Amino acid sequence: MNMTINRQTVSGGASGYLTIDLGALRDNYLLLKAKAPASITSAVVKANAYGLGADMVAPVLYDAGCRHFFVAHMDEAIALRLRLAGDAQIFVLNGLQPGNETSCTAMNITPVLNCLEQIAQWSAHAAALRQVLPAAIQIDTGMSRLGLAPIELDALKAEPARLRGIAISYLMSHLACADEPESPLNESQLAVMREASDMFPGTPVCLANSGGVFLGADYHNALMRPGIALYGGAPSTLRPNPMKPVVRLDVAVIQTRTVPTDTLVGYGGTFRASAETRLATIAAGYADGLPRSLSNRGAAYFNGIRLPIAGRVSMDSISLDITALPAGSLTHGSLVQLIGPDQSLEALAEDAGTISYEILTGLGQRYRRTYIQPDRAVVTGETINADE
Ligand SMILES: Cc1ncc(COP(=O)(O)O)c(C=O)c1O
Repeated sequence: MNMTINRQTVSGGASGYLTIDLGALRDNYLLLKAKAPASITSAVVKANAYGLGADMVAPVLYDAGCRHFFVAHMDEAIALRLRLAGDAQIFVLNGLQPGNETSCTAMNITPVLNCLEQIAQWSAHAAALRQVLPAAIQIDTGMSRLGLAPIELDALKAEPARLRGIAISYLMSHLACADEPESPLNESQLAVMREASDMFPGTPVCLANSGGVFLGADYHNALMRPGIALYGGAPSTLRPNPMKPVVRLDVAVIQTRTVPTDTLVGYGGTFRASAETRLATIAAGYADGLPRSLSNRGAAYFNGIRLPIAGRVSMDSISLDITALPAGSLTHGSLVQLIGPDQSLEALAEDAGTISYEILTGLGQRYRRTYIQPDRAVVTGETINADE
């Protein structure tokens, strides 16, 4: 891992430490960009930059050359607008909600229009302002979630005046299976997109999410729209993860004990010690984004040794079986690793029966957050030497 902070014990009284490597984030952006030099690489920073803090993440991406940013909600767009320079283009993926037209124009925010109703709304706003207004138009190419259905495209074709006053900056769609390179849905969505884009000659196309960036040049188009890969998540389920890890999570031990054979552990008594067992209780639980589904399945690591979760994950704590460690090596105040060099984000997510996206966006607010800037300066939280 690029990150040089290697914590072993608590400092400053916090119980959990989330370290976010903004240098790795920048490198990931540059890696994605290098995959498709002829395309523009944007950044998806919705859900507070996948839980990592849009205020910290977006300026680093801007400094790396990113000028196109996608969020889900208008409120996210407004917050981002206040954080970024005027030449950053901000798009709202979830569409134009009734009443948001004025905020969009006032704050220089571009809506993604997902249906004929939103197109009519935006066109009426343009007419009222006597201006031509930019918008992205999303086509549903096979995910059936957001975007114009084929019948709505036909209606646009029959009546192009519906787009009066709208300058289409991008024609976009979203891939349902880009993380599965073998899925036939990728090619079928690409074909539908090509057919739709024939209706709008010369309009730039935006299709690729993180997985799409790795599907080859056909999927790159004018603008790429990666999210998870920026934050270190694997863009594909089949290939080794080429991205640098961005997140590290360490949690403090708050108590240790030795229990005799047949002792039950945690809510519901779902773990029974099969022999004398040493346990450590750590200070994070499902309220901190460690899913309850990790109960009796997941693990933490200490000095590279796997420490299985014993019993159910509680709201604020988790018990670990630390019998594999030499006695006394882990004590009150030691830190165990939940995400880091010994356990990837994907590995933790898999044990929890979920995906890296859900783990990242669920990371709790009670951790002490430390950001390592691309120049290796450490921001917020506490004073730690990045080379420590
Ligand atoms: C419309 C849209 N585009 C792009 C992305 C980014 O996808 P990924 O994080 O898989 O790169 C998302 C994420 O959910 C999305 O909803």
